[in-house]
Amino acid sequence: MTIKNDHLRLFLPGPTEVSEEILQAQTTPMVGHRMQDCIDLIGRISPKLRKVFRTESRVYIAASSGTGMWEAATRNCVRDRVIHFANGSFGDRWGDVHKANGKDVKVVTVEWGQPVTPEIVLENLEGETYDAVSFVHNETSVGITNPVKDIAAAIRSLPGGQDVTIMVDSVSGLSGAQIEFDEWDLDILLTSSQKAFALPAGLGFSAVSDRAFEKAKTVPNRGYYFDYITMEKYLVKDQTPATPAISLLFALDVQLDKMMAETMEGRWERHLAMQKVTMDWAKARGFGMLADPAYASPTVSTVSNTHEISIGELNDFLRTKNMVLSNGYGKLKNITFRIGHMGDWTVADIEELLAGIDEFLAQKGLLNS
Ligand SMILES: Cc1ncc(COP(=O)(O)O)c(C=O)c1O
Repeated sequence: MTIKNDHLRLFLPGPTEVSEEILQAQTTPMVGHRMQDCIDLIGRISPKLRKVFRTESRVYIAASSGTGMWEAATRNCVRDRVIHFANGSFGDRWGDVHKANGKDVKVVTVEWGQPVTPEIVLENLEGETYDAVSFVHNETSVGITNPVKDIAAAIRSLPGGQDVTIMVDSVSGLSGAQIEFDEWDLDILLTSSQKAFALPAGLGFSAVSDRAFEKAKTVPNRGYYFDYITMEKYLVKDQTPATPAISLLFALDVQLDKMMAETMEGRWERHLAMQKVTMDWAKARGFGMLADPAYASPTVSTVSNTHEISIGELNDFLRTKNMVLSNGYGKLKNITFRIGHMGDWTVADIEELLAGIDEFLAQKGLLNS
């Protein structure tokens, strides 16, 4: 995949860099969304998307960002009471989505920088009845991957645990960090296009289990745009209820071909290799990492700004080389910075970014060469 150095290259935890080939795919002449061309397009996309989600089940496609997929999960599959675990800003926001939709929610907040563990989940479920549990897989604001497999297994092991709807946000993880929808027995897994999929923003995806789909039928006030029952009616005909983002679907079709060629295992490996290069570099330069290595994200690294460099100045310098990274998120601004190593980036690209940071550090007298 060719990425040209003729524009600002995004080493952000989303939106991420989109290759020329994918940008070009969006210029395919328009088709009508009820025409056979579009039905064929969605027919090609769906089986590939299921492979990315590691599921034999359905994956809904919406003209929306990830936030819309949160709202869909909340409205369709929280019936009585949901318990939500948050260990960063995006976790907090999904909790707000539950509240904004009038759901009875208990939010459990875990300190930023710490993972949500099966122990924390079990402790909070003890003696309580919830019909849904929600949390974020890859918390973008802190660069931490929560142990989804173990959390799901812990929930399923409880009496009545088989009936609980397990809802997971993998907006900045999916296709870069391993997550297995069927094998780990998840009910809803949602993401959006502008992160590890390396597509332009504007598409939301949700895998939904049969159990969650059947439950949705019993939940009142599911809303209109994101009603799973309506989405299903159209998906089985390779269509969407409303006009889809057709240009983005052309881009998705091509990008999914690339993903299939690389294989999911290949993508996970490449992301772990980029993570390792970043972590080794940070350690060698005397920077700390926010995350315990056991929970460090394969797609975004949050580096503790031990040398108290100005992130603004660093980015001004990197921009002269057509590169940009992210400041820390919210309360972690300036005390951390984040390197997004997701999507189509390779180890060589990350090394180029790190060499750029080294040049900046050398100018500040912070690097002995
Ligand atoms: C983990 C996570 N969840 C949800 C969102 C919200 O997604 P979107 O901006 O696509 O609505 C983001 C955005 O960065 C995110 O990182």
